[in-house]
Amino acid sequence: MTQTATTEPPKAKTPEPCAIVIFGAFGDLTKRLVVPAIYNLGCEKILPEKIALIGVDLAEGDAAGWAKHLRTMLDSFVGNASSEFDVDHIDDAVWQGLASRMDYVRGDITKPDLYHALGAALDKAGFGQGNVIFYFAIGDRFFAPVAAQLGQAGLTKQEDGKFWRRVVVEKPFGHDVTSARALNASLLETLAEDQIFRIDHFLGKETVQSIMAFRFANGMFEPIWNRDRIDHVQITASEVVGVEARGKFYEQTGALRDMVPNHLFTLLAMVAMEPPTTFDATGIRNRKADVFAAMPALKVTDAVRGQYAAGTVKGVPSKAYREEPDVGPQSAVETYVALRVEIDSWRWAGVPFYLRTGKHMTDRLTEIAIRFKPAPLSSFQTTAVDATAANWLVLHIQPEEGISLHFDVKRPGPDVALAGVRMDFAYKDFFAHEPNIGYETLLYDVMIGDATLFNRADMVENAWRVVQPVLDGWAAGGEPELYASGAAGPAGADALLADDGGHVWRDLRPK
Ligand code: BG6
Repeated sequence: MTQTATTEPPKAKTPEPCAIVIFGAFGDLTKRLVVPAIYNLGCEKILPEKIALIGVDLAEGDAAGWAKHLRTMLDSFVGNASSEFDVDHIDDAVWQGLASRMDYVRGDITKPDLYHALGAALDKAGFGQGNVIFYFAIGDRFFAPVAAQLGQAGLTKQEDGKFWRRVVVEKPFGHDVTSARALNASLLETLAEDQIFRIDHFLGKETVQSIMAFRFANGMFEPIWNRDRIDHVQITASEVVGVEARGKFYEQTGALRDMVPNHLFTLLAMVAMEPPTTFDATGIRNRKADVFAAMPALKVTDAVRGQYAAGTVKGVPSKAYREEPDVGPQSAVETYVALRVEIDSWRWAGVPFYLRTGKHMTDRLTEIAIRFKPAPLSSFQTTAVDATAANWLVLHIQPEEGISLHFDVKRPGPDVALAGVRMDFAYKDFFAHEPNIGYETLLYDVMIGDATLFNRADMVENAWRVVQPVLDGWAAGGEPELYASGAAGPAGADALLADDGGHVWRDLRPK
């Protein structure tokens, strides 16, 4: 059933001409996400009329070789429904338009020579005095040195009203509170805060962006969106994938660092923020920053860590984390984390936010579930009803995209008996599906200089501050609890909720 939404979308404005310099031109992120997103923007006709794409990497190559490599990758996505970039064909005209504007600069990103060559490539492309985005699709240890080198080469210098220079920084943004502060301090030696775009790809997901619209464009939800009416909130990001080829990275990272202070806190901020007074970057980010600032640092007892053992994930026999490539046989790195988080504000004090994420779990599911306080039972005292429903409002982020409301009705029949039912809204019923990998909006926003969907230095540092005691506590010793691959997580995570008011995690299987 496809219905029409009630208003036509406004036309997106075409960004000013700009060059996009991608550090890590041959890397996985570039070919899987960044370039496909640029191509999609081309298909939607919202790329600048004049654009240049300059790849920077250590690998041998030239512009034609880089373009060919990227095209081969795009072609491999065609008809592959399991890829992020799900398309049925590549539009040759759009691709040629991009490929003809590509250049490649080979070199060592830690050496000044490369930046001279890059400056020359920008001149050649007509952007020596033009707008440039520097996209850091590189290992995080290079973020600070590359920014410093760009600065020393004069490439981050902008001229007010004439041209701008912007830097996109991928995750991980630091490993703990100290390194996040150091990275911010180092970037801010070269760049102004408004030149830095710290990406969290969860904010590129349409369903995440739409949380604010749902809350603030409708009069009926906000009055009940507080501790008077809400019992608790569950935020889940469960995955069926394991660490795959990322063992080396994951051994240094773990589920908490990989997912919590960034992605899960992003979801939390969307649900918990106060209404902004203006819908611009400053207004919105101020309100999100307030949420992080109002979160007390966690205690180790607020967290449970787990690690997947062997098991069966969706019918497929799956090995234990410790048997994965590049993972230590005694590894104590967590592949699952559950947390009880608080926000000490007038709106939220006393409402627990339970967060969980893990790999090799029962199903792939990202959702925010808000549980309302139960209705009093007195109206039913002369009936057989001994409990009223748990009213849930669930924001389905992925793979289902929509919103559902769960409530009780009277079961048809002569007796007064209740039955829990569900009212569903699915995006697909109202809107056409556009190929979208989530980076399009983010890239477009960098081009137009809209930082709304990007994290500010204070937000990132506060997020790390909140989780730091857990990181420290875990580093001091102990082991994650094992859970069978394909399970919903370790038993300790159930106990975390049970001991906190007798709560229970929601089922992981999408309905
Ligand atoms: C990444 C993490 O940032 O997010 C991965 O490094 C994780 O470990 C991924 O799998 C999840 O993102 P998505 O968009 O697939 O839910």
